[in-house]
Amino acid sequence: VLLTFHPEDPHSYRLVNSGVMLAAQADGASIVTVEGLDDTATLRQGDKETRRPVNQSTNQPISQSPIHPISQSPLPALQAAFVRTGAIQCGYCTPAQLLAAKKLLDENPHPSEAQVREALAGVLCRCTGYAKPVQAVLLAAAWMRGDAAPDGHDWEPPNLTIFNAFESGEWPAEAPPDEPPAPADPTGVIAPPRTMPVTVAAPATRVVNKPEPKVDAVKLAKGRPVFTDDVEMPGMLYGGLLTSPHAHARILAIDKSKALALPGVHAVLTHEDVPRVIYASGGQSYPNPPPYDQVSLDNKVRHVGDRVAIVAAETPELVQQALELIEVEYEILPAVFDPETAIQDGAPVIHDEPDAQMIHDP
Ligand code: FES
Repeated sequence: VLLTFHPEDPHSYRLVNSGVMLAAQADGASIVTVEGLDDTATLRQGDKETRRPVNQSTNQPISQSPIHPISQSPLPALQAAFVRTGAIQCGYCTPAQLLAAKKLLDENPHPSEAQVREALAGVLCRCTGYAKPVQAVLLAAAWMRGDAAPDGHDWEPPNLTIFNAFESGEWPAEAPPDEPPAPADPTGVIAPPRTMPVTVAAPATRVVNKPEPKVDAVKLAKGRPVFTDDVEMPGMLYGGLLTSPHAHARILAIDKSKALALPGVHAVLTHEDVPRVIYASGGQSYPNPPPYDQVSLDNKVRHVGDRVAIVAAETPELVQQALELIEVEYEILPAVFDPETAIQDGAPVIHDEPDAQMIHDP
């Protein structure tokens, strides 16, 4: 977040890692989150009446400046640039990237690439490699000043139809055509087609070979709820995992009867209750890279914290109580704790299940 105890001074905001700050330390402070960036008044992106860039000194629209793509965007410049350049991937780091960039651009409308990199340096991003966020901040700075894009790229204005669909979740029944239909001739004469057929032509495409905003990029740029943990519906249950205290063990028996008897507990699942569907844990969609060595719940645990049982109950407290009532009988097996030991002859075999696939174990 951006935080200040002197909101009357826009330059007094500090970039703060809210995850390591006590709430008491922020008592009485003025705070800006990524949701607050939606207020275009907080960004000097341009005059709302004329939709032209604003002179940073006089705060007046620059009358001779061309109308830039951002003036047609439903998003403030910074967020639109992040969406347009592909600077948003998973989105975990996006709020911090945007706030760090906002602080920089509020203080320095003409940042160099090195200054942008310095401003973003404290934000850890596992996805983008920083190239796109840096490009986005430089582009936003140019848009906000009324300059051309710094990389000379002819960035198209954001597609409002698509952006609105992202926002509302309602997609147009049919994508807008590339070319408007020929106007009807009042004489009744059938007009010739506007495009004459040709024998060989590259097919015109609206999507293929063109940059497309990520499907949830606008929501991520605005700090809207997009992650599973953000979803809350009436009647939802809370879930919890019973995990293994052992590094390697076989589950000989599980007694879940006491947990199930607890009022408000709706389900307790063990390896006896779920189908055995093998998958890889790479966390990637198709093509899911091997090895295929995971099932949701197994009769064996292979590390401390491995999954043993799943509880669904009406409150988090009930989940915790139910987890404590599950009784598990383990056969503790020899474990390995480093790769050197694991490759020795006779080392314990952790994945000895017959249905695992593509495990290389010479
Ligand atoms: S976009 Fe995924 S961590 Fe930065």
